Amino acid sequence: MMSTLFEEVLKKIRPKATEVEKARQISDLLCSGILLEGFEPVVVGSRSRGTFISGSRDLDIFVYFPETMARNEFEAKSIQLGKRVLKKHNPTVHYAEHPYVKGNVEGLDVEIVPCYHMKDKIISAVDRSPLHDEYLKDKIAKKRDDVLLLKQFLRNNNLYGANTKTHGFSGVLCEVLVLHYGSFLNVITAAQGWKSKVIIDHEKTRDRYLKFENEPLVVIDPVDKERNMASAVSMQSLAKFVMMSQQFMKNQNIEFFFRKPEKIDLKKALAGRHITIVKFSYPTGVIEEIVWGQLERLSGYFAKQLEIQDFRVYRNFHYTDEQKNCWVVLETDTTKLSKFKKHRGPRVFDDEHVKNFIARNPNYWLENEVLFAWKKRDKQKIEDLISELLLTPTPSHLSGPVKKAKIITGNDVLKEKAVLEQYVIS
Ligand code: CTP
Ligand code: MG
Repeated sequence: MMSTLFEEVLKKIRPKATEVEKARQISDLLCSGILLEGFEPVVVGSRSRGTFISGSRDLDIFVYFPETMARNEFEAKSIQLGKRVLKKHNPTVHYAEHPYVKGNVEGLDVEIVPCYHMKDKIISAVDRSPLHDEYLKDKIAKKRDDVLLLKQFLRNNNLYGANTKTHGFSGVLCEVLVLHYGSFLNVITAAQGWKSKVIIDHEKTRDRYLKFENEPLVVIDPVDKERNMASAVSMQSLAKFVMMSQQFMKNQNIEFFFRKPEKIDLKKALAGRHITIVKFSYPTGVIEEIVWGQLERLSGYFAKQLEIQDFRVYRNFHYTDEQKNCWVVLETDTTKLSKFKKHRGPRVFDDEHVKNFIARNPNYWLENEVLFAWKKRDKQKIEDLISELLLTPTPSHLSGPVKKAKIITGNDVLKEKAVLEQYVIS
């Protein structure tokens, strides 16, 4: 029996009969189009298993290609097929491990994805999806509500999605967790007690897990024992899930599923703190998955370089609206360094080096056996140091926009509401 809280949540997220029916009509139509072209279609993912949250828009249709077909032929054929089947629906080609075609059919984002159909061998990542479907379809049928609750719990806490934006939990991972523990509540009850390394092997297919040593959450894929389905989950996301589970078990309420939008007084929240924002345009034509990953690296690069220059970087953060702007937020102990830097020299016993050091730094002193001297900094302000960094960012799609970035400090940062509201709750 579901609690009244769960029923209240499910009322809002269970797929409506009309939306299931409409999606079925669309997928039937597209599938018969694919059959007519002489290929075998299969609907996979949460649509196929009835585990999608009401209102979600993706429809994944996979097309089986014979194992004997060479990769280049397979790719050319699948693009051709996708474009033909979606020709009235604005087809666009996208590139992951394989190219696939996307279109929009009456509000649904349809993807037509080529794959090989095999039981014992997986050639590319997408080949697992039909196998997941076969594995999960019956097993999860009675636990759809539990999957929906878990997805919504994660989504509401910015933990849903195995992508570079979220570093979180994929849909299929939610299904396997529910299957393993038996229900949503069982998953949360287990998670509140998880320790730093978690290994779940539902089918008990392995006896060693060393291969996954560096991944905080290991959930062995029931259809491929070489793969960790949770490899995208970062320590930060795992920790947040554990913490949210602990809090939920203490006080089960609707806000864990639907957060009330908070009114944040940024001026008050950030008073006395030193925030610097680097803002630049979103690189045109680059997909979000790539941009989030490169932004994260850029933010780490800025933080590290500022540390080298003697700033203490308390936190660094990155964000994009995925259309117009990208931001990196750097919170430091100060925004202006002292005029002189304490510069470490040689040990006093190192005669030759001592001579040189003293000649160049008349302003020296000893601390035990080590020489030090004051060295004048040529740049003291954080914005001047960052300006210099902008000219030589790590190579990426961002380097163009980054060269023209705006550096925002002082009270002006308060105007960057979109990013700061994310930052203060992160
Ligand atoms: N998949 C996977 N690992 C991922 C993402 C996807 O194995 N990180 C496979 C799964 O078999 C999944 C299918 O690709 O079922 C479709 O992916 P996606 O649409 O991202 O997930 P869904 O399970 O359909 O969940 P939802 O669309 O509701 O988010
Ligand atoms: Mg899907």
